[in-house]
Amino acid sequence: MASISFLEASIAIFCFLILLYFFKKTTHGRLPRNWPVLGMLPCLLAVLHRCYDYIVEILEISDLTFSFKGPLFAGMDMLLTVDPANIHHIMNSNFSNYIKGSDFKEVFDVFGDGIITTDSELWKNLRKFYQAMLHHQAFQKFSLSTTTSKLKNGLVPLLNHFAEEGTIVDLQDVLGRFTFDTILILITGSDPRSLSIEMHEDELAKALDDVGEGILFRHVKPKFLWKLQKWMGLGHEKKMIEANAIFDRVCAKYISDKREEIIRSQRFNDISYEESEDLLSSFIKLDTTKYNLLNPSDDRFLRDTIMAFILAGRDTTASALTWFFWLLSESPQVVTKIRQEIISTNLSKTRNGQENLDKLVYLHGALCEAMRLYPPVSFGRKSSIKSDVLPSGHKVGENSKIIICLYALGRMRAVWGDDALEFKPERWVSEKGSLRHEPSFKFLSFNSGPRTCLGKHLAMNQMKMMAVEILQHYDIKVIKGQKIEPVLGFILSMKHGLRITITKRCPS
Ligand code: HEM
Repeated sequence: MASISFLEASIAIFCFLILLYFFKKTTHGRLPRNWPVLGMLPCLLAVLHRCYDYIVEILEISDLTFSFKGPLFAGMDMLLTVDPANIHHIMNSNFSNYIKGSDFKEVFDVFGDGIITTDSELWKNLRKFYQAMLHHQAFQKFSLSTTTSKLKNGLVPLLNHFAEEGTIVDLQDVLGRFTFDTILILITGSDPRSLSIEMHEDELAKALDDVGEGILFRHVKPKFLWKLQKWMGLGHEKKMIEANAIFDRVCAKYISDKREEIIRSQRFNDISYEESEDLLSSFIKLDTTKYNLLNPSDDRFLRDTIMAFILAGRDTTASALTWFFWLLSESPQVVTKIRQEIISTNLSKTRNGQENLDKLVYLHGALCEAMRLYPPVSFGRKSSIKSDVLPSGHKVGENSKIIICLYALGRMRAVWGDDALEFKPERWVSEKGSLRHEPSFKFLSFNSGPRTCLGKHLAMNQMKMMAVEILQHYDIKVIKGQKIEPVLGFILSMKHGLRITITKRCPS
């Protein structure tokens, strides 16, 4: 009996592989076929290993907008678009009709009611409060000093150690640890010290990776299937459940420690504590008369807020920098130009750190160019409240799903010209040498319209500071022969990391 079921299973797997092979053969440079009942799902599964590039192909040949049909009753129909006019319409001019929606919230359920998943009045309250916090001068100083100190006391000693030992390191891992430590210091005031010679695995960081992968699979599986897996605790859903429990436990500890710290400081009348700048202290002490929907005494609200900021600020910056350094390794002339700019800007001579960073126009362009080709957030997802017609002429029904593919947007010849696939920082520099502005509905890496990224300046500054430190003092050599490809996930990290060796440069 057992051997018959084994035989049956083998035949089923064999047939499935033949079918996938057949679908794979029929997908190159073609629009996916819409099969009865199954819709375009077989084609999607067949190209899953090169999903991003396939989306680039189909959007290029379908004039920037494509209607994907899922299996019957699977709730997977969606409109994919990279048409800047559509993006402007959805993100700006008709913003109120396009929300994250309940489906988005379900898919991103581990992030609870954080700013990334909410709509309407709650989102408005959160955004207003976060904006005030992030733009506060004290917080900006705190963020600058946190990055400076992590560079000096964390990154530099570690890179020196790797240089002396000649060790092969995964640069993505190093950068991820840097951004993880800094975002946690900004949120909680305490340093998880994941950036250390021991390179110990942080359970929160690992849980975030598992969640990122799980979320993507929820996009390519029929809803009933991932829900069933969740209910049964199987596969990616099992990992999501475990990750969620880790988020709950770790955040609960941060929150209770912070509450105790605040009580202690009040008991001892510690005035300096009143001025502490970490985000969690501000969340706990927030003025509820100004933000009537926010409840700082609710630990769930605090947990979701912490998670939203970790999600927003950790992997995004690390992913952007990893692709940036990889692109630099392919373009030594860009490295030379950035180094020349750093020398001619004479960074040490100006008083204000921010003012200095703003002068690095070519470096700014190179970072934007890396994020155009490899946008850290790989796709945006919206749901329509009422039916509508997009500027491209496509009809959108009530409660339709729209996916904006950022990876494909940066590669469209119709949007960026025939050299769209080339890494050219010059694209961002005007003839006068100043920064060339590109509208956010064309360069969408930090989102567009009322939901534009709130950490954009913080992230740009942090990336510039890291790039300056590394390029001034080290040479990075990417190990030859390794496979470089994006992971399928909400954040566009490198699937196999970026293995490098590092050497110290002679002071120039
Ligand atoms: C290179 C780094 C970064 C990139 C590329 C980036 C990109 C984005 C994108 C695309 C969104 C929209 C997401 C969506 O609506 O689905 C977003 C939202 C957001 N980002 Fe960033 N981000 C970066 C760094 C940061 C950092 C460091 C912080 C905070 C310290 C931050 C805070 C936020 C917040 C709070 C939102 C939600 C805005 C809203 O919904 O109103 N981001 N970011």
